[in-house]
Amino acid sequence: MRKADLTIFSFIVFCSTLFPQSLIAQTKAIDDEGHQWWQHAVFYEIYPRSFADSNNDGIGDLPGITSKLDYLRWLGVDAIWISPMFPSPQVDFGYDVSDYENVDPQYGTLQDMDRLIAEGRQQNIRIILDLVVNHTSDKHPWFIESRSSRTNPKRDWYIWRDGKGPGQPPNNWISDFGGSAWQFDPKTNQWYYHYFYVEQPDLNWRNPAVEKAIFDVSRWWYKRGVAGFRLDAVDTLFEDPNLKDNPVTPGKLSKYGDPVDERIYNKKLPEVHAALQRLRAVADEYNAVLIGETWTDDINELKQYYGEHGNELHMPMDFMFAKVDRLSPSEFRRQIAAVDGAGGWPIFVFSNHDIRRVYNRYGDGQHNDQIAKLMASLYLTLRGTPIMYYGEEIGMENNDPKRKEDVKDPAGRRSWPEDKGRDGERTPMQWSPAENAGFSKAIPWNPVDPRYKQYNVETEKKDPNSILNYYQRLLTLRHNNRVLLDGKYVALNESDPNVLAYLRSYKGQNVLVVLNMSGSAQTVKLDLRGQQVSGTTVKTLLASYEAPPTSKTKEMAVPAFGAYIGEIR
Ligand code: NOJ
Repeated sequence: MRKADLTIFSFIVFCSTLFPQSLIAQTKAIDDEGHQWWQHAVFYEIYPRSFADSNNDGIGDLPGITSKLDYLRWLGVDAIWISPMFPSPQVDFGYDVSDYENVDPQYGTLQDMDRLIAEGRQQNIRIILDLVVNHTSDKHPWFIESRSSRTNPKRDWYIWRDGKGPGQPPNNWISDFGGSAWQFDPKTNQWYYHYFYVEQPDLNWRNPAVEKAIFDVSRWWYKRGVAGFRLDAVDTLFEDPNLKDNPVTPGKLSKYGDPVDERIYNKKLPEVHAALQRLRAVADEYNAVLIGETWTDDINELKQYYGEHGNELHMPMDFMFAKVDRLSPSEFRRQIAAVDGAGGWPIFVFSNHDIRRVYNRYGDGQHNDQIAKLMASLYLTLRGTPIMYYGEEIGMENNDPKRKEDVKDPAGRRSWPEDKGRDGERTPMQWSPAENAGFSKAIPWNPVDPRYKQYNVETEKKDPNSILNYYQRLLTLRHNNRVLLDGKYVALNESDPNVLAYLRSYKGQNVLVVLNMSGSAQTVKLDLRGQQVSGTTVKTLLASYEAPPTSKTKEMAVPAFGAYIGEIR
């Protein structure tokens, strides 16, 4: 060994005694492009209540998740984001945290979390937690202290104000879940602010002690081996200190029956970015990844979340892409080009615990299985990191409550029947055709989708044409194909109203993706002029239908809702 090599070698050995293995692994670039692990990873959101119930109490838990790591590895998942599993009164099913440094007994113990992290490491699956930064539960000791008196040292950890007059809140701000965003507290004769439920008081991010406390929480989990966070509701962190009234649209009411306000004084304030950049600096100490729940109206807003120098969020979620609510090649083309050109690393999300499942949103009622494969082929072949939502890989659909009295999500009760709430996309994972879909031996907290006998992991694993096996093949292809991992995105046939076609192009190699978003067969003539593509033949890598082993780029037949991925030769 040369002397220089020996020095580097000794340094690595020295570091590995200082830091756990996972931290070192995360710092390494994993390809010639300098990409980090999270740029090649497939993320998978788990709603812990609904994934797997190990102790048969009808509620999913952490040991349940651990028991399914083999499955996730087989599927091709590299990181799981677990929605809040911290102690919580569960008013907002965990998004009302009463202790950031523990596990809710419903979901297990800290030791269960340690085991999940350790076993995940063995399977090469990283764990991302959900950091609820904007608010706590009203049962959090910080808030209990804060509300105890006007002079309590924690008073200023939350946002307390006098009313405008007797019985009148400080201003006209409306809660996202309906009603005034202010709650009167008779004990101290003041109002506290809550952007979400009354039981979710907003933290005062203008108080440096609050910032420090949340940053310390993030450190605490990094030290335990967590690889990063999905940050909840970041655009609501700051409010106008003068509490100006928001403008209201006259004559319009929301689904909760409230005036419709334009939230210019309590959302997306510029201060958000500086705070997130400071949180990023903490994450960088641990080489952790930050993913943002970033609801943006346009690409410029999204761009800001990356930070001018790439020093803010690694991956702010692009919900504009998820908001394309029909199979529209032109709309998808527009959204993909926008995020692809935004300068940061894109992250693609189609559904989650707040959004109706893809199967329902894009399904036409007749070809839903084909459409599920089509949509998977879209977001799993783009340049960027995908976040799957548990169960989409088996074609789970929304199972919305049928009666108001069955609704669990308080917001859903409030907006019934116009909006039935979010229970429908949070139903138990379907593991087998057994009772309760193999999720639990007890009656699940939220009813299982009645289609589970057909749509479940066990049954679909046996069927080579199932949605599940298609996902598994697609993820295997994605992981093993350099062009799909690193190649640039090149739109093709941009005026085609039915077919979304694009290349992923890397060092002279080209992977072609052709997605027929229409209900009729299409003959696609690819226009490759100016693309530096010399070949005219495409070798099939994967298709959602029986495609010939090779085709000619000048004429490709793609059936209704068919998805095709091939390599141009
Ligand atoms: C965003 C979460 O995704 C949602 O489920 C929750 O209700 C709100 N934040 C409030 O925490």
